[in-house]
Amino acid sequence: MKTFYIETFGCQMNVHDSEKVVGTLLARGYRQVATPEEADLVLYNTCSIRDKAEQKVFSRLQQFKRAGNGKIFGVLGCVAQQEGERIFERAPHVSLVCGSASYNKLPDLLVQIELGDRRVTGLDLDTDETFETPLTRRDNPFRAYITIIEGCDKNCAYCVVPFTRGRERSRPSSSILEEVRQLAEAGYTEIQLLGQNVNSYRDPSPAGWNFATLLARVAEVPGIRRVRFTTSHPVDFGRDIVEVINANPVLCNHVHLPVQSGSTRVLERMQRLYTRQDYLRRIEWLKQSPRDIAISTDIIVGFPGETEEDFAQTLSLLEEVEYDSVFSFKFSPRPNTAALALDGQIPEEEKGRRLMILQERQRAIQLRRNAALVGRVEEVLVESYNPATGQWVGRTSQNRVLNFTHPDGPAAALAGRYLDVRVTRAGPNSLAGEAVL
Ligand code: SAH
Ligand code: SF4
Ligand code: F3S
Repeated sequence: MKTFYIETFGCQMNVHDSEKVVGTLLARGYRQVATPEEADLVLYNTCSIRDKAEQKVFSRLQQFKRAGNGKIFGVLGCVAQQEGERIFERAPHVSLVCGSASYNKLPDLLVQIELGDRRVTGLDLDTDETFETPLTRRDNPFRAYITIIEGCDKNCAYCVVPFTRGRERSRPSSSILEEVRQLAEAGYTEIQLLGQNVNSYRDPSPAGWNFATLLARVAEVPGIRRVRFTTSHPVDFGRDIVEVINANPVLCNHVHLPVQSGSTRVLERMQRLYTRQDYLRRIEWLKQSPRDIAISTDIIVGFPGETEEDFAQTLSLLEEVEYDSVFSFKFSPRPNTAALALDGQIPEEEKGRRLMILQERQRAIQLRRNAALVGRVEEVLVESYNPATGQWVGRTSQNRVLNFTHPDGPAAALAGRYLDVRVTRAGPNSLAGEAVL
């Protein structure tokens, strides 16, 4: 029997794509192994969002340059799409290069490889199809990812995604709902809807649902207790989404709304299509909700031309919104993107300085916000037991990690259950507590 190893880099969409690739391979009679050394076929599902992410796959491939003997190497995902056949030049032992827009062709490409083809590619970007397969092999037994929209039609000046994932295409609502029903029957209770701009969803079938309607319908499926969605683009974030969350407790108390910068001048240069004021209006809707919705964001520091004053505006936005969590990055110049041509590139050292200041500020905000939860009882979905700390690990509806003790310890067998936990302590990145019995 042939064996394969797969390692995944990048976002949740990549993680989910890998689940589909794994299912496809298992159905073809491959067996998954835990190390590349044991595998006949070694696959890397790659990310190109920042330079560091891209370099990872090449350093992995480098390790096997000589010791590759007989193994077949494949590069999937965003670096595959971006670099295409150039990957064969940089790493001649690679046999398969396939971007996510061509995964429908993977079974055919595998046949070609099995027949002995040395080099096969799937690099077509102009596809109308979404990658769906009944063979998906999910990693988590309680939480299921579902991609509802692929690609991106925005044009942010710093971003490779439109080049690596192609045009936006939505999956028909009936097929999404059918999969959610099947997942509920199989025992999944949490659904996470995925898309680079998940809220740009437009049902291609005659029903023509928008994202808010789809959310409401998914949340009604019997057996589903939590629904999350990521990532939302502020421009397409309508008030109807907040209203649907307000009306349905199955929709989690958490919205991830990447802002990138607090300065309207920088947002314009980034081609983000909204101003600071537009963004803050959406935050207002969320804050007015009776649901206590947690808000998280992504921020880029050191975008070309970002002045001290621009950066100060990003810091003031942090204080104004009081985010529950923030993913922050130094601007990384990427191939094909408009930002390469902008003047005012910021030195690495200065980007690092701004990033540190921002992360320190945010740490204080998070500590404050988490501390305010001490004494409260929160419902968690229990994920696992951590023998090192003697705590169970759960997640609240607001997407906070809540580590808690239970008198029965590991014997309580709580994984996958929903449980009330009293918060007793707070750190900047997680909470600690005790199960309410
Ligand atoms: N589609 C999502 C984000 C996708 S990428 C959105 O529009 O918000 C995830 C995050 O990576 C982005 O939100 C951004 O903060 C960061 N990012 C993207 N390109 C980057 C670059 N060239 N340098 C640094 N960070 C980047
Ligand atoms: Fe990239 Fe912008 Fe598209 Fe997000 S919306 S994936 S940041 S181009
Ligand atoms: Fe990375 Fe591609 Fe996702 S660039 S963040 S894996 S869409």
